[in-house]
Amino acid sequence: MSLKLGIVFNFLQLPDVSKYPFVINKRTGGLLVKKGLFVYTKSIEGYLIGIIEKIVILNEYFSDALTIKAYNSETNPNILKGLFPSDDFEYAIAIVRNLGIVEFNDSNETEFSRIKRMMYPASPGKEVFLVEKEILEVFIGINRKHGLNVGKVKVSDIEAFIDMDRLLNKHFAILSISGGGKSYLTSVLIEELLTRENGYGTPAIIMVDVHGEYSYLKNIPALKSKVKVVDTSYFQISTPSLGAYSFKKYQEQISHVQLRELAKYIKTLRKDNDFKKKYTLNEIIEEIENDSEGGKNTKQALIGWLSELDRLKLFGPQENPVINNFVKQGEISIFNLQNEISIRKKQIIVDYICTRLFYLRRMNEIPPFLLIIEESHQFCPEAAHSKAISKYIIETIAREGRKFMACLCLISQRPKKLSTTALSQTNSKLILNIKNPYDLKHLMDSSEAITKEFANMISSLGVGEMLLMGNAVNYPIFVDIRERKFKSPTEHATLAQECINWKKVHSI
Ligand SMILES: Nc1ncnc2c1ncn2[C@@H]1O[C@H](COP(=O)(O)OP(=O)(O)OP(=O)(O)O)[C@@H](O)[C@H]1O
Ligand SMILES: [Mg+2]
Repeated sequence: MSLKLGIVFNFLQLPDVSKYPFVINKRTGGLLVKKGLFVYTKSIEGYLIGIIEKIVILNEYFSDALTIKAYNSETNPNILKGLFPSDDFEYAIAIVRNLGIVEFNDSNETEFSRIKRMMYPASPGKEVFLVEKEILEVFIGINRKHGLNVGKVKVSDIEAFIDMDRLLNKHFAILSISGGGKSYLTSVLIEELLTRENGYGTPAIIMVDVHGEYSYLKNIPALKSKVKVVDTSYFQISTPSLGAYSFKKYQEQISHVQLRELAKYIKTLRKDNDFKKKYTLNEIIEEIENDSEGGKNTKQALIGWLSELDRLKLFGPQENPVINNFVKQGEISIFNLQNEISIRKKQIIVDYICTRLFYLRRMNEIPPFLLIIEESHQFCPEAAHSKAISKYIIETIAREGRKFMACLCLISQRPKKLSTTALSQTNSKLILNIKNPYDLKHLMDSSEAITKEFANMISSLGVGEMLLMGNAVNYPIFVDIRERKFKSPTEHATLAQECINWKKVHSI
């Protein structure tokens, strides 16, 4: 039997199709009826499920200024106060926002066949009940058996087991201000994916770790066999795999005439090496220098472009790590970019990783994957003036990845600076606190589900609270994020403690 919470009544032009008010019963079995609680009432269409959006407390005694003055005046003896049982006149009402109508199977009262949009308001006089846990789980779209447990649905005792397929399939974004808890939430998701039972199916995870925040996973005994970390100081792009026109991506100003010439040199080098030997950028440069025929200006320009690329120390005779061997199902491969300072270099690395992953996935040489990109606004910026080599491929994966089970997770503290094309393709959004009005507006523009009301709530979320919306759930829900099972050593680092512990690493 469901818990009775109150009775629907008429208040301020309500009920209408989207909302209804109810008077809260004085006794609700010890349950405090509060904002965020899921409730239902029977309407003529079926069971109308909604969420309490607002609670108002009213007391007729205290609605009139003169009465309050008389009541509180010094001449009013206490005995008179006793005659005014003002407490008894206090009552609370709740305003419920309707979410949908559920139709139950005739055979089983706790299973319902489908959720419909409501077309008719709740009836005044009808009772309002608390939605039971089992029904609420199905209604929200929780997958208790195989889902990823990220915490608790707010104002309920339901564990937020997010359905992995629904979350990953259409990409997702994790957004908040700096320090809002994005990396923390990401590590909770990674914990869930890595500790998921083999039989349930887990994709390969690839993490672009800009600040080296995830390397600690390698030191966790329970996880370490599933974690690989590459310090990108040793990262190498395979020069022989680059055709002349790929160089245009790295050196935009290179002209078509110069590219034609470059193609010629690459061709001879490949032929000379029997198409097998691994050559470097330096060898292409030597090939150009040794050529006695070509135009001097073109040769000089090409040498200039290639030398500049060579100085990045990114282009080697072969790929390192070899991406198709590196990426494994149920494991995480972390690319640690912590030691890279140059933003251009970081973008080239990310571009290469993404391009290779997407190519290999399309060829079915690697398993379905989840690619997580931290600080994604650096790699896929919105503004035309802040060019990033990696933008094109990230947008391509965002648009086309779903068909190849190449899933993307974009993490950003500046949604406004993140490409709208990419952001609007991330169907599920895990939103923590965002304060900046421009970021909020950008979010509202990129997703129609984010209304002004949600925007207001997002700006008041605390650390550890998130709004989860989009394909992962049937209705937006607020979640209290669970604690990490495996602690990062920097978790409780404070400025004062760091100052005490600090020692100069390299004495000059
Ligand atoms: N759910 C949570 N429970 C407990 N502590 C949390 C939670 N989420 C975040 N924190 C704490 O808040 C701090 C900031 O979190 P985190 O590093 O995840 O932020 P961030 O959004 O990734 O920031 P940045 O944008 O700067 O990378 C950390 O010290 C972390 O321990
Ligand atoms: Mg972070």
